[in-house]
Amino acid sequence: MSKCLVTGAAGFIGSHLSEALLEGGHEVVAVDAFIPYYPRAIKESNLTNLRRHSAFTFVEADLRKADLRELLDGCEVIFHLAAMAGLMKSWSDLELYSSCNIIATQRLLEAARDKKTPHFIHVSTSSVYGREATGPEESPLNPVSPYGITKLAAENLCRAYEANFGLPITILRYFSVYGPRQRPDMAYNILIRALLEDRPFTMYGDGTQTRSNTFVSDCVKGTLLAFEKRDRALGKIFNIGGGETVSLNRVVEILEEITGRRARIERRPPRPGDQKHTAADISRARQELNYQPTTPVVEGLRAQVAWQKEILSQS
Ligand SMILES: NC(=O)c1ccc[n+]([C@@H]2O[C@H](COP(=O)([O-])OP(=O)(O)OC[C@H]3O[C@@H](n4cnc5c(N)ncnc54)[C@H](O)[C@@H]3O)[C@@H](O)[C@H]2O)c1
Repeated sequence: MSKCLVTGAAGFIGSHLSEALLEGGHEVVAVDAFIPYYPRAIKESNLTNLRRHSAFTFVEADLRKADLRELLDGCEVIFHLAAMAGLMKSWSDLELYSSCNIIATQRLLEAARDKKTPHFIHVSTSSVYGREATGPEESPLNPVSPYGITKLAAENLCRAYEANFGLPITILRYFSVYGPRQRPDMAYNILIRALLEDRPFTMYGDGTQTRSNTFVSDCVKGTLLAFEKRDRALGKIFNIGGGETVSLNRVVEILEEITGRRARIERRPPRPGDQKHTAADISRARQELNYQPTTPVVEGLRAQVAWQKEILSQS
């Protein structure tokens, strides 16, 4: 059993990861600042099951200001998920994205260096590749949104701490994660809500854009493997994606079938910074970590629809 620090633990993926760690018998120290990008009430409900667990400690703290050394006491590993996610708002509030994604990461790296934490797992994104994210980890990095640029800067900080101070780093680049608790600003969440409430859905682009959708439990599995196989993961970068790549048009069809409703689509041009194609090359994660995503898109979308139906029935 290890003591683990999870940052961004009240968020979509961080809450699932924390649950999986507890199920694996680990102790979790969880940090989140409830940054109001989406409502605190949603994040509080993400924490409901976690708060009942005796091996779970929640600390409300902002990584940009808090004393982080104390948080790291006795921690074997840091899972650094806290960030300002979502690209549209990054055009208009770069200060928030820079401080949460860059400054907060550097403060955490400093604390990890000071405390000699044995493993720092930094969560990054396919957005660092740019408009197309289809190749291996060595592909050129040309982010096309301020969000992607701040996430690339955070990766580079990790590499600088590794190169200069020997910090034990692993970088994971997640590809479009979906499933229960998906953030309310993400396209599938918005599309499912529109279908269930019979409202129009604004589609940016012609719908031929593709995504390597990663079901959240597969994403969590990949993240745990990086921790469990530390010897193979140290000093490396891994793409963590789903096994299937589908277009947005196909996702609309699947969701129409699942919900039994017809989508009312309002078309708009692509937004600045939108990615065109992502198709995760997960060869390295497969080879080194034995990572194998198992959830088919249809099944994963069915789980997300069921969760959103339940939420709507409660409101
Ligand atoms: N969801 C995806 O499809 C996806 C894809 C690629 C990468 N990622 C990365 O995965 C991570 C988690 O994303 P998510 O979708 O769960 O987002 P989320 O917004 O649901 O979770 C992030 C959490 O971090 C917290 N946070 C932000 N800044 C903080 C700070 N300064 N101090 C303390 N807490 C802070 C927020 O309050 C939030 O609860 C992020 O690093 C994101 O960039 C997500």
